[in-house]
Formats: sequence, C-alpha cells, structure tokens
Amino acid sequence: METIAIRPLATADEARQCAQMMCTTDPWITIGRGFEECLGIVKIPGREVYVSEENGQVRGFVIVNMGGAFIGYIQILCVHDSVRGTGLGTRLIRFAEERIFREAPNVFICASSFNPRARALYERLGYQLVGELKDFVIAGESEILLRKTIGPLRPK
Ligand SMILES: CC(C)(COP(=O)(O)OP(=O)(O)OC[C@H]1O[C@@H](n2cnc3c(N)ncnc32)[C@H](O)[C@@H]1OP(=O)(O)O)[C@@H](O)C(=O)NCCC(=O)NCCS
Repeated sequence: METIAIRPLATADEARQCAQMMCTTDPWITIGRGFEECLGIVKIPGREVYVSEENGQVRGFVIVNMGGAFIGYIQILCVHDSVRGTGLGTRLIRFAEERIFREAPNVFICASSFNPRARALYERLGYQLVGELKDFVIAGESEILLRKTIGPLRPK
C-alpha cells in the first residue's frame, strides 16, 4: 500500500479537521479543551503544522514549535482513531524529528500522566525522561517531559 505523504497544513478546512480530531479524543477531553481552543492551538502563528491527508480527510497531524525555551518541541501529535495502530503516529514523529534535527539537536515531547501508551511509544522511539511537571495542566495529573537528543547545543 502506498503511504500517504506528510506535508504542511494547507487550508482552513484542514485546520478545522485537526481541531475536531483533537477535541474529540483524550488527552484533550480530560484536559478540557474544546473545539475553539483546539483550533486556536492549530492556528498559533509561527507554529509548524504538518498533516497526513487522504481524499480530503486529515488522518493525523503534528505541531512543531521551533521557538521558546526548548527549541524543537513537538507540541501536539494526533492520529484519527480510525487509523491508530497503523504506524502513522510513528511516521509523524519521525517526520518532525527530521525537520527539527536539521536546525536543533533536541526533540522534546510531553505525555500526560494518564496517557501511558503515548509515553510508551515515545520511549520505544528513543525518548528519555527529563522530568515530571506535577499539576501542570490539570490538578492531580502531570505532564511527563521527554527528550531525544543528538548532541549538546554547543558542541566543542
Ligand atoms: C499517540 C498516537 C499519536 C499514536 O499514533 P498511532 O498511529 O496510533 O501510533 P503507531 O501506530 O505508530 O504506534 C502504536 C502505538 O501508539 C500508542 N497508541 C496507540 N493507540 C493509542 C491511544 N489511543 N492513545 C495513546 N497512545 C496510543 C501505543 O504505544 C501503540 O503501541 P501499542 O499498540 O504497542 O500499545 C495516537 O494513538 C493518538 O493520536 N492518540 C490520541 C492522542 C494522543 O494521545 N496524542 C499524544 C499526546 S501526548
């Protein structure tokens, strides 16, 4: 089977599809992010949004932040529940890694404490624990910060 290409988000309709996918699944249901808030995240200026789309349907997407304190942060990763477990999430992460490693030596990603399967996926792909941000997004839960690195910011 031909694999679907991953490319930059192109239309307002695709942005809405991404927001819809997010707000109807965990972790964002538990966190309490509705459609408008998710759409706002997808449309944050300067963030890079990459989608896997087929016949007008977004199957999955990844949002990369190349600014801020931790350059190379995978802010959002989401695959439509109809195609989960088929390798698309892994492809989106690898795509984001290739993009980030062209400019920076670290990739950062968070998994919610109530999302152990996502954390397991990241660890299988070589991400290591940085630390636990307790009560970071919602009370009683943590964000687990993970990092994959190819070297220091300033090599000798
Ligand atoms: C996490 C996610 C992006 C993985 O995408 P995917 O295409 O299913 O991933 P792959 O097929 O490449 O790999 C499968 C692995 O993903 C993880 N996974 C599968 N379904 C998942 C789900 N509903 N929630 C979280 N992780 C899941 C598991 O580690 C799985 O491995 P396993 O079957 O051995 O447990 C996708 O499941 C998803 O969008 N989940 C809901 C949103 C989410 O949790 N995003 C991550 C936020 S930190």
